[in-house]
Amino acid sequence: MFSNMIQVRDRYFIPFIAEKELQKRVAELGAEISVDYRGKTPILIGVMNGAFMFLADLSRNIDLPLEVSFIRIASYDALASTGSIRELAGLEKDLAGRDVIIVEDIVDSGLSISHVLDQIREKKPSSIEVCSLLLKPEALKMPVSAKYLGFEIPDKFVVGYGLDYDGEGRNLKEIYQLK
Ligand code: IMP
Ligand code: MG
Repeated sequence: MFSNMIQVRDRYFIPFIAEKELQKRVAELGAEISVDYRGKTPILIGVMNGAFMFLADLSRNIDLPLEVSFIRIASYDALASTGSIRELAGLEKDLAGRDVIIVEDIVDSGLSISHVLDQIREKKPSSIEVCSLLLKPEALKMPVSAKYLGFEIPDKFVVGYGLDYDGEGRNLKEIYQLK
């Protein structure tokens, strides 16, 4: 048994990415974005709910004037992607001519982010990039390029640091993997 194993609802999880490691990587991503967007005022668009914690930390590590906005999309049903994309909400903002950075917690099948990209492209931003904390290469069902990527991880369910299992676990300071 792992002494630091935790329970979220009916499942057990083990520590996977420590708080220190997360914070270090988020600081690096923020520094990279600060250099790449020098002289610009990007708009960070977080995909709710999962990206809230990552976006909060990332934005504090970007040394530029910027805007923050959120959109919501749901495609996940507890442990597995439902494959069907539900409505995208919160995209009323005028993005024409803007430098958009979409902030995601995780790219799994790639369906959600592809859908978001399609919709945002229609708003004619001058640039659009993806910043995802996590990506599961083995789970990808379509090519997705995330210019800013925290960690590539194996195709195993994770919770914490914004990511949930059936609605819970988002407030955990580190990322845990399903046991
Ligand atoms: P995709 O459309 O299959 O790429 O799924 C992306 C969304 O599903 C992410 O934004 C997450 O909200 C959720 N998701 C995917 N994998 C996990 C996981 O391991 N734990 C928690 N949520 C996940
Ligand atoms: Mg998400």
